[in-house]
Amino acid sequence: MTKIISIINFKGGVGKTTTTHCIGSGLTLKNKKVLLIDTDPQASLTFTALSETPKLTIKDILVDQKNINDIIIETKNFDIIPSNLILNLAERQLTSKFGTEKLLKKAINKLTKNYDYIIIDCPPSMNLFTVNALYASNHVLIPCETELLALDGLNLLIQTLNGTEEDLDISIKNTLVLPTKLDKRKKVSKEISEHLKENFKTTKTIIRTCSKLNLLGLTKESIYEIDSSSTASEDYKNLVEEIIKWDC
Ligand SMILES: Nc1ncnc2c1ncn2[C@@H]1O[C@H](COP(=O)(O)OP(=O)(O)O)[C@@H](O)[C@H]1O
Ligand SMILES: [Mg+2]
Repeated sequence: MTKIISIINFKGGVGKTTTTHCIGSGLTLKNKKVLLIDTDPQASLTFTALSETPKLTIKDILVDQKNINDIIIETKNFDIIPSNLILNLAERQLTSKFGTEKLLKKAINKLTKNYDYIIIDCPPSMNLFTVNALYASNHVLIPCETELLALDGLNLLIQTLNGTEEDLDISIKNTLVLPTKLDKRKKVSKEISEHLKENFKTTKTIIRTCSKLNLLGLTKESIYEIDSSSTASEDYKNLVEEIIKWDC
C-alpha cells in the first residue's frame, strides 16, 4: 500500500515545505518511488524543486479535472505535482460546489505509476486544499517549531483532527508531531521540545536549526547534495528511517 502522508500545520514557517523536500529526496536515496504534491498556492515546494515555472499544476487536476498523470513532472530526486498562485482563485470556484473534499483522493486513485510514498505539502490553514490532502492521506506529520507560540496552534490542530477522525481514513494514531528548528543554545527551545515529547505523540527525530536548509531552491538540489554532512542531512536521514518503519 502506498504510504500517503500529509504535512500539515496551521502555522507558516514551521518547516512543512522543507520537511516535504527533505523526506522526498531522502526516500529516493533509499530507492523508494516518491511523488510530492504541492497544494500550497505559495508554491514554495515547486520553487525549491523546479527551475522553470510549470505550465500545468494541481489546479488543473482539482478544477479542470485534467488527468493527474499528465501533470506529474519528473526530477532527478522525485516526481512532483506543482502548484502556483492561481490556486488561490481555484479555491473560490471549488467551495461553491458539493463533494470537492475528495477531488485529490479520486485523482490519486487514477495514478498509473506505482509510488511507495506520496507526500503532500499543505498550505498553512485548514482550507479546502488541506482538507483534500487529509482525505487522500493515511498518515499525518505535523512539523512544529520548538518555540512557545507554536503550542497554541498545535492543540487546535490536534483537536480539529480528532473531530474529523470518523470521516477520514487516518486516525489520530497515524499522526505524529515533528519538533523542528531546535536550537540547543536556547533554553526555551529545549524546554518546548521536552514539552512536545511529553504531551504529544512525536517522532524520535528532532530537526535542529541548520542554515544549510535556507539554500534549498537555490540550485534545486537536495539537502544531501548541498551538504551531506550537515546537521539537517543527519536529522532528515534519521527521520526518513522512522518514516519507513512508520506503520500506524
Ligand atoms: N531546521 C531548520 N533550520 C533552519 N531553518 C529552517 C529549518 N527548517 C526550515 N527552515 C527555514 O525556515 C523557513 C520556513 O520553512 P518552510 O519549510 O518554508 O516552512 P513552511 O512550509 O511551514 O511555511 C525557510 O526559510 C526555511 O529555509
Ligand atoms: Mg510551505
